Amino acid sequence: MSYNLLKGKRGIIFGALDENSIAWKTAERIHEEGGTFVLTNAPIAMRMGKIKDLAEKTGSEIIPADATKVEDLEALVDGAMEKLGGKLDFVLHSIGMSVNVRKGNHYTDMNYDYTTKGWDVSAVSFHKTMQSLYKKDAMNEWGSIVALTYMAAQRVFPDYNDMADNKAYLESIARSFGYFFGKDKKVRVNTISQSPTPTTAGQGVKGFDGFIAYADKMSPLGNATALDCANYTVSLFSDLTKRVTLQNLFHDGGFSNMGVSQAVMETFMDE
Ligand SMILES: NC(=O)c1ccc[n+]([C@@H]2O[C@H](COP(=O)([O-])OP(=O)(O)OC[C@H]3O[C@@H](n4cnc5c(N)ncnc54)[C@H](O)[C@@H]3O)[C@@H](O)[C@H]2O)c1
Repeated sequence: MSYNLLKGKRGIIFGALDENSIAWKTAERIHEEGGTFVLTNAPIAMRMGKIKDLAEKTGSEIIPADATKVEDLEALVDGAMEKLGGKLDFVLHSIGMSVNVRKGNHYTDMNYDYTTKGWDVSAVSFHKTMQSLYKKDAMNEWGSIVALTYMAAQRVFPDYNDMADNKAYLESIARSFGYFFGKDKKVRVNTISQSPTPTTAGQGVKGFDGFIAYADKMSPLGNATALDCANYTVSLFSDLTKRVTLQNLFHDGGFSNMGVSQAVMETFMDE
């Protein structure tokens, strides 16, 4: 169903890797809602080639950019404004990667070069993106910027490893930069703290199957899917949420405020 909530709005979508990606579903929904955008991903992710299918389906162009490289981001912002024919109204940062997780390094046995790399990709890239947009005055007033995060920024999830620290940093950047973007440009900046979701990044976390099933049993509404997340992001890019900013918004079926649920208790009770 389309409500035409994003008619005439232009933006950039980072992080669509395959059809499971949260950014992929979001691109499809934004397209349905009348928004136009440039798709971007790391040059290395382009090799999979799938993003071309999404570009075709949504009538969008692709501009590769490594989100850790400022020169790539600046070229992306310029290129997006040129291709879309004006300043931007929305930007989705849907990027995450931990080299320690990938290499199976335990949190108590980190390789700090990997830690730094993961922090750059997962957190500082958000600052770099916003700084490029800000310096180029690339956002329209009442525009909206969203990054995706996870509750391991606030609570302990042992296997989330250094991504927990990266997400805490990312959420802090949203507040700190969001202040200047709000005051100077009337642009809002928020993070969405999403349920565990079966994507390439999600499934890279050790014990993901247990993790996602537990969250589902704990949440009164069940886990939020990638499509649910796409719909929530559409609302944050629409004009209906103009004064929501500097927030970390839990989008998790209620999980974050639960202590225990009947379904989880039953697994521990004798009868
Ligand atoms: N899947 C989950 O359980 C879950 C839960 C909460 C939050 N999130 C967050 O959602 C976001 C999207 O992840 P996803 O689950 O859709 O997985 P995904 O693997 O589909 O997306 C991650 C994306 O990051 C991109 N990326 C990695 N390094 C990059 C770089 N240097 N430059 C540009 N892009 C780069 C990848 O190419 C990929 O497209 C991430 O921030 C993730 O942490 C995911």
